[in-house]
Amino acid sequence: MKRKVTKAIFPVAGLGTRFLPATKSVPKEIMTLVDRPLIQYAIDEARAAGIEDFIFVTSRGKSALEDYFDLAPDLEAALESSGKTDLLRLLRTTNMESGAIAYLRQHKPLGLGHAVSCAAKLIGDEPFAVILPDDVIAADTPCLQQMVEAYAETGGAMVAAMQVTPEKTSSYGVLDIASEDGPIVRVKGMVEKPAPGTAPSNLAVIGRYILTPRVLQNFEKITKGAGGEIQLTDAIAHELTEGRDVFGYQFSGERYDCGSKAGFLQATVAFALGRDELRDELAAYLRQLDLPAT
Ligand code: UTP
Repeated sequence: MKRKVTKAIFPVAGLGTRFLPATKSVPKEIMTLVDRPLIQYAIDEARAAGIEDFIFVTSRGKSALEDYFDLAPDLEAALESSGKTDLLRLLRTTNMESGAIAYLRQHKPLGLGHAVSCAAKLIGDEPFAVILPDDVIAADTPCLQQMVEAYAETGGAMVAAMQVTPEKTSSYGVLDIASEDGPIVRVKGMVEKPAPGTAPSNLAVIGRYILTPRVLQNFEKITKGAGGEIQLTDAIAHELTEGRDVFGYQFSGERYDCGSKAGFLQATVAFALGRDELRDELAAYLRQLDLPAT
């Protein structure tokens, strides 16, 4: 099977309950870090990695996402006639080519694995990426690009991996490691949200994957997993049962869990401090905060 990865699935059908009431009408992926929606960071990362086909698995109430990627001819005309060429250029970086983007619905929120399986017919017979826009990763070389390069050598199935503290393992998929070679770990088992104290390691799965269509066939062989949901981790772990390779890739970069409020706020501060026009004012504000010790 070829190892060039040109398709990516963006599962964005979750309910986003941790951000209610905002997510009652605003998809989580449209919420902004400084001035760019979470989904824009994910798209930029995918493009940098060579992705050409973008498949969104959405649900009711997510039409703002489709609008975001549509052309905005009136807005472009207004910016053009008022000479705001910098903003016009910025706006155009968000346009997607017709035919490059597909939307399909997951009718019920049955889990991340189920959302990914909904896109099976659009994948065909080639490896594909899965990107969770909640996980925003700041890196010199974008995370998915690091993985695509490693995948060209390894093949198999590959998941992004990161060390977490032992208390946090029960919130993640966790890898059981057979061997380690630099950033690449060979995986011998995977468990989704292990009970506290039972995780096989502290290496957690983060929301970037490179998978083969065979993983999609595994959904027929697995049952509901942690939280009563159809888990992507379980479908990937099934590859091991069938004697195929699974790798973890310990990416370089800073990951923010923007699916949680604390992670979203940390990312907001970090990305704002990274912007020339905001850094001084925000840093001065943060310095003068007299935070009580906890
Ligand atoms: P989360 O576990 O963060 O769930 O999903 P959520 O619904 O988005 O948010 P909370 O926990 O209620 O606040 C991780 C990723 O999987 C997608 C989500 O959209 C998110 O990108 N997902 C999850 C689906 O597409 N479908 C599902 O049924 C579940």
